Amino acid sequence: MDIHTTDDAVTRRISFFTERERKLRENDLYFYNQPVEEIKGGARVIVKGREMGMYASYSYLGLIGHPRINAAAKAAIDKFGTGTNGVRLLAGTLTIHTELEETIAAFKHTEAAITYSSGYVTNLTVLSTLMGRGDYVISDKLNHASIVDGCLMSGAEFRRFKHNDMAELEHRLQQAPVDVAKLVVADAVFSMDGDVLDLPKTVELCKQYDAWLMIDEAHSIGVLGKTGTGIEEHFNLGDVVDIKMGTLSKTIPSVGGYVAGKRELIQYLRHASRAYIFSAALPPAQTAAANEAFKIILEEPWRIEKVNANGRQFINGLKNAGFDTLLTTTAIVPVLCGTDERAFALTRECQHKNLFVLPVVSPAVPEGLSRLRATVTAAHEPKEIDYALGVIEKAGHEIGIIQ
Ligand SMILES: Cc1ncc(COP(=O)(O)O)c(C=O)c1O
Repeated sequence: MDIHTTDDAVTRRISFFTERERKLRENDLYFYNQPVEEIKGGARVIVKGREMGMYASYSYLGLIGHPRINAAAKAAIDKFGTGTNGVRLLAGTLTIHTELEETIAAFKHTEAAITYSSGYVTNLTVLSTLMGRGDYVISDKLNHASIVDGCLMSGAEFRRFKHNDMAELEHRLQQAPVDVAKLVVADAVFSMDGDVLDLPKTVELCKQYDAWLMIDEAHSIGVLGKTGTGIEEHFNLGDVVDIKMGTLSKTIPSVGGYVAGKRELIQYLRHASRAYIFSAALPPAQTAAANEAFKIILEEPWRIEKVNANGRQFINGLKNAGFDTLLTTTAIVPVLCGTDERAFALTRECQHKNLFVLPVVSPAVPEGLSRLRATVTAAHEPKEIDYALGVIEKAGHEIGIIQ
């Protein structure tokens, strides 16, 4: 096929990006899409033959490679093979799918759960199934892209409130007509900033204005709550969230997404959500891996304590050095740099000193708030974190991010 030569909008978008990438590569500032050759014990990786400390992982409890999880995945392949016979509703459901959904429901202390093939798809399909034209969906401004896309796809009136601003959330709820369906949706831990949603106030407002509440626990499972079950446990609130969404690709080292909640809600989603009806079932190995991981979280609580202790060490170290880490209190630690250029420069220095960490720049975050989006996990040791802090502090001074 010929390359398009006309100067249309698509060509311009691609050219703009191509030029930006070319300049970054020319200056040794492009670190995205690097193939990891080997994962060594959770906190270390081999990249281009070099061993590096991993500070960009979502495996918050260090469960990737856990022997019991690997064994469960292998046993599932031996029993069921590598695929399924189709979509869940028809021939695709296996006993391990049902087992996983029961495990998730028990873990979340609720009646039932449903799984989908990714967290992204879960948000798209659940929001667009439950909400429709004329309804009101109200979303925190820093919610994940999959939530935003699900809200837009639903065709409902889409309203956003300033990040974690409960007065503005109330205002949005007041603006919605009394007799329409309302749903408030938010991340439990915000994926770029690492801070925690004000769940107690959100719940109070949802009750007051008769709105459904959906919470995305992608970054809070295994991190929030004494036993790692998430934001309701963190605030000691019991069962207050109607639609408890999460992913199987972060703390749970597999792939997929889920919703846990009341039996009728889940049964409705099984018969009405298009990603369940029209997309293939989770593969056996990934289903079994996820099932085993939920059990390990409950059986190895030291991992939850360790990820949180590591988070505190990393955040305090950065703050003491003079960095702005916004309001994070979790394993996601934004290291603010200001401009895109500074974020790229700090990444380069870190990568050269064997820290695998990546920048998030505009338009993914607002201009001026470009950052390293670092993460720590239960697999890090305190002395490794000290080393990382030393590297980031020295580079921060050289680049002029800190004084
Ligand atoms: C808050 C949040 N929700 C949903 C997703 C999508 O999950 P998955 O990667 O499992 O598709 C992500 C992924 O990063 C996320 O951060």
